[in-house]
Amino acid sequence: MNLGRKFVLASINNRWYDDLGVEGWWNLDGPVAALHEVNPVRVAYFLDAIRQRVPAGSPRILEVGCATGNVAGIFRQSEYVGVDIDQDSIALAALRHPGRNYAFHCLDLLEDALPFEAGFDHVLISHTAHHLPDEYLLRLLERSSELLRPDGRLVVLDMLRPAPHEPLNRQFYYRLDRGRHFRTLNEFKTLFARTNALCDTSFEVVRTTKWGIRVIDQVLISGRPRRAAQ
Ligand SMILES: C[S@@+](CC[C@H](N)C(=O)[O-])C[C@H]1O[C@@H](n2cnc3c(N)ncnc32)[C@H](O)[C@@H]1O
Repeated sequence: MNLGRKFVLASINNRWYDDLGVEGWWNLDGPVAALHEVNPVRVAYFLDAIRQRVPAGSPRILEVGCATGNVAGIFRQSEYVGVDIDQDSIALAALRHPGRNYAFHCLDLLEDALPFEAGFDHVLISHTAHHLPDEYLLRLLERSSELLRPDGRLVVLDMLRPAPHEPLNRQFYYRLDRGRHFRTLNEFKTLFARTNALCDTSFEVVRTTKWGIRVIDQVLISGRPRRAAQ
């Protein structure tokens, strides 16, 4: 794998990434070609975690912050709706998943009227929390919970922040990511304790190993909308 200078620059400089845009990012021969060699491994980790816990046959799934549709492919048997603020990402997600059971919408979940019905079995927020500050994430959780069926589940999956003294194998993926709001398990628990929108919330740490070596820890948080419990 060529861990060249451009790749290293890209992993530490957010402005550089932003300037690259979706087309630059998805150019497999482009400046982040090396990252594309790493990314499928990372994506495989979170797809596994989701696959095992969100039934593929759930009738209706909403993914908030679906970006370019990395997760959508799991839900071929469901009615899947993906939303994201970023128009280029949504356009690419729609190209990658042309099936009739897929719908992608460019919108801000916190601000915009929704062009679809509520009442989802699962609302999924995957590997998005570490890009969002606490107050924003809380609003997103609250809005997402309103879109669930009474017996539906909100599922949040994210990487956990390793302690600074942990070895390189535990730092690798976390260091490559652009997120600025990584949280520890306790920080997630404290944050979720601040919202009344959810009940029966559970926190499961999903440990991931590669060649027997522990790499990333993810957390899978699952909760029901509180109004269903009242
Ligand atoms: C890191 S990406 C998500 C990656 C994707 N879920 C995956 O698992 O591969 C986070 C996405 O959340 C989107 N986002 C942030 N706030 C949002 C909002 N209020 N409404 C819709 N999308 C939002 C961003 O545009 C960004 O594409």
